[in-house]
Amino acid sequence: MPFVIRNRISDDSMTCGTRLRPTGRVPGAFFLLGIWVVLGARCLFGQGPSQSKPFGVADTNLDARVESILGRMTLEEKVGQLVQYSAGQPTGPGTGRTDYKDMIAHGQIGSLFNVVDPMQINEYQKIAVEKSRLQIPIVFGLDVVHGFRTEFPVNLGLASTWDPAIVERVSRAAAMEASADGIRWTFAPMVDIARDARWGRMAEGAGEDPYLGAVMAVAYVRGYQGSHLDDPGSIAACAKHYVGYGAAEGGRDYNSTEISEHTLREFYLPPFHAAVGVGVASIMGAFNSLNATPSTANAFTLKHILREEWGFRGLVVSDWDAVGELVAHGVAADGEASARKAFLAGVDMDMVSSLYHDYLPQFVTSGVATQGEVDEAVRHVLRVKLALGLFEHPYVDESKVNRAFFQPASLDLAQTAAERSFVLLRNANGPGGAPLLPLARTGRTIAVIGPLADDPSYRNGAPEGTGPRTSFPAELAKRIGQSHVLRFKGSGIADGSDQDIAAAVAGANRSDLVILTLGESANMSGEAASRAHLGLPGRQQELLEAIVKTDKPVVLLLFSGRPLTVPWAFEHVPAVLAAWFPGEEAGPALARTLLGEVSPMGKLVVSWPRSVGQEPLYYNALNTGRPPGNTILTRPPVDGEEKYLSRYIDEQNSPQFPFGYGLTYTSFSYSKTTIAKSQLHAVELNKNLPDTADAAQTVEADVSNTGSRSGDEIVQIYIALRGTTTAQPVRALKGFQHIFLAPGETKRVKFDLTADAFAIWNARNEFAVEPAKVSVWIAPDSAHGSEAQMEILP
Ligand code: NOJ
Repeated sequence: MPFVIRNRISDDSMTCGTRLRPTGRVPGAFFLLGIWVVLGARCLFGQGPSQSKPFGVADTNLDARVESILGRMTLEEKVGQLVQYSAGQPTGPGTGRTDYKDMIAHGQIGSLFNVVDPMQINEYQKIAVEKSRLQIPIVFGLDVVHGFRTEFPVNLGLASTWDPAIVERVSRAAAMEASADGIRWTFAPMVDIARDARWGRMAEGAGEDPYLGAVMAVAYVRGYQGSHLDDPGSIAACAKHYVGYGAAEGGRDYNSTEISEHTLREFYLPPFHAAVGVGVASIMGAFNSLNATPSTANAFTLKHILREEWGFRGLVVSDWDAVGELVAHGVAADGEASARKAFLAGVDMDMVSSLYHDYLPQFVTSGVATQGEVDEAVRHVLRVKLALGLFEHPYVDESKVNRAFFQPASLDLAQTAAERSFVLLRNANGPGGAPLLPLARTGRTIAVIGPLADDPSYRNGAPEGTGPRTSFPAELAKRIGQSHVLRFKGSGIADGSDQDIAAAVAGANRSDLVILTLGESANMSGEAASRAHLGLPGRQQELLEAIVKTDKPVVLLLFSGRPLTVPWAFEHVPAVLAAWFPGEEAGPALARTLLGEVSPMGKLVVSWPRSVGQEPLYYNALNTGRPPGNTILTRPPVDGEEKYLSRYIDEQNSPQFPFGYGLTYTSFSYSKTTIAKSQLHAVELNKNLPDTADAAQTVEADVSNTGSRSGDEIVQIYIALRGTTTAQPVRALKGFQHIFLAPGETKRVKFDLTADAFAIWNARNEFAVEPAKVSVWIAPDSAHGSEAQMEILP
C-alpha cells in the first residue's frame, strides 16, 4: 500500500506527529506514483529527522554517466554487474563459486558481501579497479542490522522507543562504522510486518503496525544513507524482504504466505513504499511464496507495484540463493528456468546462486530476454554505485578503520537507545506498599540470578564487537556497592542443574531482593529461529518458580527477540521489564533504569500473547461476524452463555499486553477525546488525497501526570471505520506524540488528521475515502482511551 509520510508539529511540546498518506491507485486525478516527504517535525528531545530529500538512486543527474558506462559494456560485463557472491562468513546453501579474484578481473562480479576485513576489501577492489577492463568498482555488502561493531538494541527494541530520531541516529552510527570498514551496502532495514511471535525474525523489524513500520523504515533509510549517498559515511540501505515474508504460515521461517491484495496494500506494503519514498537504494526480494508465486518470481510485486506504481529506480537483489530456490518452490524445473523467471520478474541481482552468471548471456542471444531488459537491470546497479561515489573513492582508508569503532558518542547513543527501548510490563507494589521499581539505592543486598545478566548480546551477522563493556551486575555494584550485589547463574539458557538452582535459592534467601535475568539466547530469535513454544527455555521456569517461592521481592528482566508467553510470571512476579536484547550498553542502561536514574518509556510494538495458540495475534485485526465483545473467555461457555462466537473455549482473545502498552514510574490519565467536526464529506476528502497538508479533522485530549515523578508518555491516536466496502481493522494507529510531564502537569495533545488517515483499500481495488461511521481514540495503547464518534458522509 503506498503511503506518504509527513511530520508536523502540533503543539510546542516535544512531538513527532508523523502522518502517513496513501497514494497510488486512488481514483482518477488522485493517481500518484511514489511518495514524498514533508519535513519539519521536531521529534522527541529535539532530535528531528534530518532534512534529507530523496537522493542518490532517485537522482536523474546520474543518468548520463550511467548511459556512458553502459554504452561501453559487453554483454558479459553487463551480466557481471548482476552477480553477487558471499566471500566470507557466514556461509549458507547455494552454488556460489570461490574463484572471485579471477572473476572480478574479468568483470564478472558486481558485488561481494560478508567480507569484513578492510585489507581484503581493498585487495578485491584493486582487482576490479585496476585489472578489469572497465574498472567498475565492487560494492561490498553486509547485514548491518542494528550496529556494526557498536551493538545497539535489537530492532524490535529500537522500535519500542517509538522514536524515529533515535533510530535514525543509530543507523547513522552503524553506517559510519561500516563504511569506515569498506562496507557501503547494508541489507537492512527489515521492514516486514510481523504478527506472529513464533517467527524469529520479528526481532529484526518494527513489529505489527504498518504506520509505525513506515515511520521506522524512513528513519532507518535516512540514517544509513544520510543526506548524500556519496558521503563516505553513508551506506546504501536495502528494504527487505519484499514482500509478505513476515506472514509465514505457522510462524515457520521461509514458509509460504497467502495475503490478499487488500491485506498486502493496507498492512504489508506501506513500510516498503515509505522506504522507496525517501530514496532507499535497494530492495531485497523475499524467500517466501506469496499467493503461490515465489516473491523472487513475482512480477506483480516487483514490476507492477515497485517499478510502475512507485517509480522505484534503485536495485532489486534476491535473497540468498533465492533464484536457485525457485526449483525447490516447484515453479522452475532447473537452474536455467529459475534464472529466467527471476530475471523476467524483475530481480536485478542474483545473490549467491550464480545462475545469472551461468544463463543470462545466453538468454539475450536466444531471445528469452532482451538486451534492453539486461541494460535496465544494469542501470539499477550502476546508479547505486555512482550514487555512492564508489567510482571516485573505491578504497577503504585502512588507517582510519579502528578509530571509527566504539566512538564515545556511539556508546552514549547505545545507552540512550537501550534505556528508551525497555518496556515496563508490570510494576506492582513491593513490601513497602509502593511499586517495587525503581529500587531504593541503599542498604539492601540484591541477588542477580539468571543466565543473561552478564552478556545478553545479539549480533545479527555483524562482526564481533567487544561485547557489552560492563555487565549489568558490575554496573549495579558500581552504584550500590560491590558487597550489596550477589551473583548466581541459577541455570543456563537451555539447560540447568539442580545444584545451580539450589545455589540460587540459597543466594536469594541471603538477599533482600532478587533480580532475575531470564529469556532467550540470541540464536533463539532471528533468521531460522522459529519457535513453537514461547515460554522460557530450558529450566528457567523452574528457576523462576523456585525463586518466587523464597518470598523475596523479585524483579524479572526478560531478554528476548519476541514476546514470551510467561503468564505465570505476570501473575506472581511484581515487576517485569521487557529488555529485548539491549546491545553494547546493556549494563549501565539496565542499572540506571532499575535504580530510577532514568525511567522506562518504551511501548510494545507487538501484541504480547498469553499463549502460543493465540498467534498470529495483532491489534489491528478485522472484526468478525461473531465478535466476542468484552467477555473474558477463559473457560468453555457455561449454560446460557453464547457459544457460537469467535473465541477459544480455553483462552481469552485479548493479549497479555496490548500493542502500544508500556508503563513508567509515574502514571497518566487521559481526558475524553474531542473532535473538531462531527461530520466530514468523502467527496471533499477524496479531493484532498493524496498529498494535502491540510488538516481534515483535529482531535484533542488532555493528558495529565497523576503520579509523583516526572515522566514521558507516548500518546497514540487510533481510528476505526464502519460501513465501508471492505472490512476495516477494529483500530488503526494514525499518529503518536511523545510528551514529557512534570508531576501534576497536564498537556493538551492535538492531532491533525489529513484526508489520507481515512482512506482505505476498497472493494474497487483502489485507495479512497468512503462514507463511514468513525470512532477515534486518543489513548495510551491500542486497548484503552475514550472514544469520540464522527461520520463521513458521501
Ligand atoms: C538471508 C536473509 O534472509 C537476509 O535477510 C540476509 O540479508 C541475507 N541472508 C544475507 O546475509
